[in-house]
Amino acid sequence: MRKIKSGIYGLNPLLDGGINVNSTSVVIGASGAGKTTFATQFIRRGLEEGQEGIFVSLDENKEQIIREAVEMGWTEILDYLDDEQLVFIDASGKEFATFIKKELPAFVGEWTGADARISIDPLTPVMWSTADAYEQRDLIGFMLKELRKVGTVLSTLEEHGTAGDLSGRETIIPMYLADCVMHLQYRALDDMVTRRLKIVKCRSSAHSEHSHPYHIVKGLGLVVDRGEFAPTESDAIPTQVMEELEKLGDRLPPTVHRRLLKSLEELTDQDFQDIKGAELVESILDEYARE
Ligand SMILES: Nc1ncnc2c1ncn2[C@@H]1O[C@H](COP(=O)(O)OP(=O)(O)O)[C@@H](O)[C@H]1O
Ligand SMILES: [Mg+2]
Repeated sequence: MRKIKSGIYGLNPLLDGGINVNSTSVVIGASGAGKTTFATQFIRRGLEEGQEGIFVSLDENKEQIIREAVEMGWTEILDYLDDEQLVFIDASGKEFATFIKKELPAFVGEWTGADARISIDPLTPVMWSTADAYEQRDLIGFMLKELRKVGTVLSTLEEHGTAGDLSGRETIIPMYLADCVMHLQYRALDDMVTRRLKIVKCRSSAHSEHSHPYHIVKGLGLVVDRGEFAPTESDAIPTQVMEELEKLGDRLPPTVHRRLLKSLEELTDQDFQDIKGAELVESILDEYARE
């Protein structure tokens, strides 16, 4: 799996090196969490690498996004627009839903072979373009399937209602369909503002499962504090388990024994998280061992 850099300082190590190319990600957060800033950084990072950028804005107009980007220190955005390396689309949820149904396949056809980054900010109004859950799922599923043909997709999603409750239909459906889900947990109580980022899921990546503080810094954008999370290369636990299993070889079916040893060879301590080596050996014995 090829990884591309997210453009968010501190985030890549938490994602096992970055975002998987041609994958679909969803960033969820309440108003003020930093979703638009995140989407902008993601696109900008691609432009810096020579990738094309497509920014679909569904609630702010082009001028507003550009003004905010320039305030964040990104003055070159105007050059990218002039050179058409960055394409900006602003539409309503209903207009964009119609575009997905009627024009998206032709659009994707024109962009065949592209290695673009595509941001949709936010996806929520597209979900609201229809009240029917089946249609919502069909629409978003189709959109993600088409868009990933031309690049790597990052959509933002608004978090409504009770803080941290992601069980509503308009969050559940895109979360389910996306490869990678990141939650920007933003709480503003009186004078206290806390921002924490949590990777809810990320397919094909040994990602962090902690929640990490992040900050929004003028000129830099989102900066994530990766804290304790530093991928280790140590393989003490799988080595211990392999040694135990070697000794117990005759108590396991040979095919199982071979498969387990082969799998363990690929693992590091990090894959085991809180699992104790000795306990795992016992559980394996309990599962297979012949009396
Ligand atoms: N130019 C800036 N300088 C400093 N902070 C900024 C700037 N632009 C945005 N922010 C901070 O980022 C916050 C969230 O921005 P935004 O990405 O628009 O959030 P969302 O899209 O999730 O509503 C703002 O409330 C502000 O605190
Ligand atoms: Mg926004």
